[in-house]
Amino acid sequence: MNPRRTPNLTMLGQAEAVPDPTRQVLRPVWWNQGAGPRGALQLIDQTLLPNDVQYITCVTLQQVWDAIKTLQVRGAPAIGVAAAYGVLVGLDEFYEIDDWRFRTRQICDFLATSRPTAVNLFWALDRMRRKAEALPAGLEWEAAFQSLLIEAHAIRNEDAAMCRAIGAVGRDLIPDGAGIITHCNAGALATSEYGTALAAMYAAHEAGRKFRVFVDETRPLLQGARLTSWELSRAGIETILMCDNMAAVILAQKQAQLVIVGADRIAANGDTANKIGTYGLAVLAAAHSVPFYVAAPVTTFDTSIKDGSGIPIEFRDAEEIRRVGLDRFAPVEVPCFSPAFDVTPASLITGIITNKGLIHPVTPDRIRQILGR
Ligand code: MRU
Repeated sequence: MNPRRTPNLTMLGQAEAVPDPTRQVLRPVWWNQGAGPRGALQLIDQTLLPNDVQYITCVTLQQVWDAIKTLQVRGAPAIGVAAAYGVLVGLDEFYEIDDWRFRTRQICDFLATSRPTAVNLFWALDRMRRKAEALPAGLEWEAAFQSLLIEAHAIRNEDAAMCRAIGAVGRDLIPDGAGIITHCNAGALATSEYGTALAAMYAAHEAGRKFRVFVDETRPLLQGARLTSWELSRAGIETILMCDNMAAVILAQKQAQLVIVGADRIAANGDTANKIGTYGLAVLAAAHSVPFYVAAPVTTFDTSIKDGSGIPIEFRDAEEIRRVGLDRFAPVEVPCFSPAFDVTPASLITGIITNKGLIHPVTPDRIRQILGR
């Protein structure tokens, strides 16, 4: 596929085209109906947060792919929603050039090459592909486009509802006065809105509970420092940022009573891939007898994979390890180990907070029972 490379990412200025960044509910991915004849995918550029709140409009398929690859949009559910809308960006770019069903297949194949670990990407693309296959073959382009747009909106809206449900399940795990450790960003920015791990915290906060969150900075790309500490602080939740190597001390001093993190892919036995560093945090939590929870919608489960050894792990450019932001502080030639994710074994996970209820204990049977699969 060789999509046309048209305009650069644009920053929008019109009030109705962008959500108010000071709003309590952050929405990082949406379809801006007002951009172009059929609308366009719009994202908060997460690589610039928290210093700059800028919006990008994706009008080419390549822009969508790049936005996912470079983490302008990131977090498993948000990647899935962006990819679903990305199918529409691709169809708009190739409008009436040839068969829309053939194009949909090609676009899905292309977007699936952007990042390998978060299963929500593949889940959303499969759903778009299945929708296209189910539409009548002779349908006109416009009708097919609109039907697929409705499907992408459904994916986005269902994700938002699942996040709210995760919040309702997770909030009661957070007692008044608790200290919580979290890693990476599993908040509104990582979903359509509200988040997964942070949904439990938002819901507990809304219920009037007082607690404090220790946020791992999350090297190498600092999602904890840049995104989670920003999200939680602006919601009025007490937030303490720390380096990744400080969690042991917080646990030893009994300053944290639980850990809650997100997930990128959960195997049939509960083994969970999440941001690199999650596994180490789970080991520390177990060593200090502190409960370790994963929060995720049912779309993050991949029951076709028996255990964590089958989860594909993304490795990223070594420069991300040698640098913090634009500053390189390591020798340019030094080899680096750069997995973006690790796998926490189910045996270290106290429970998985899903939109359909709490999975506890984390066993294949209990997972099947909650998922209804
Ligand atoms: O590389 P990222 O920033 O996409 O990694 C994100 C995470 O690991 C999140 O914890 C995970 O996707 C859960 S998001 C609700």
